Amino acid sequence: MLGPRLAGRDGVALAPPTLEDFKRYPVWAAQPEITYFWGPRAGKWTETSAEERFKESAKEEHGVHWAIQLDDRSIGFSGIDGIDWIRRQGESYIIIGEHGLHGRGIASEAVRLRTQFAFRELNLHRVYNWIVYDNIGSRKANEKIGYREQGRIPGVFRRGLRRHDLWLGEILRSDWERDHRD
Ligand SMILES: CC(C)(COP(=O)(O)OP(=O)(O)OC[C@H]1O[C@@H](n2cnc3c(N)ncnc32)[C@H](O)[C@@H]1OP(=O)(O)O)[C@@H](O)C(=O)NCCC(=O)NCCS
Repeated sequence: MLGPRLAGRDGVALAPPTLEDFKRYPVWAAQPEITYFWGPRAGKWTETSAEERFKESAKEEHGVHWAIQLDDRSIGFSGIDGIDWIRRQGESYIIIGEHGLHGRGIASEAVRLRTQFAFRELNLHRVYNWIVYDNIGSRKANEKIGYREQGRIPGVFRRGLRRHDLWLGEILRSDWERDHRD
């Protein structure tokens, strides 16, 4: 499903992604700065496949997907995939597609909005993510909101000649609620 609009701080919002957003993805993914630590760098990136992905995302029952917006302009994606509604857990992802916007706190705000929605609206118990350990920006954006390391797998992510560890982070609703008593 496509997530609802969630307005955040400093012009950051999560919004239901549009077909135009899906068509932007190949441009983002083609930049080495964006996909060094994440995702395939080649694929079926035609307009038709963007339409197919858009429709699939909209009707998917085990995922919630948002565009990340800055001042009403889409600049990335975030969401929760593979939701197990019985065990009430899912795997989060995030990408800011314009590397000139990295390091400004946009992902931190998007993770904050997404996590609050996961617990307060979706009633999930746990959200987790696999992050390349050396992807410091991604780890920190999640750790700031309360995600904690659950383990590491040495050397399983490979980019070129280098191997990187994979980091498993998770946040539990009980811990998050304890830190967000109003
Ligand atoms: C990872 C990513 C989402 C982070 O987004 P972002 O908007 O730059 O993150 P933030 O600005 O909220 O940064 C969070 C923290 O990490 C720091 N940080 C960000 N990028 C960093 C980098 N390359 N190196 C070191 N620190 C970094 C920020 O300074 C901030 O720390 P602070 O709160 O102490 O100041 C973004 O870089 C991205 O989309 N990368 C490409 C796709 C990707 O790797 N996605 C994640 C896959 S798991």
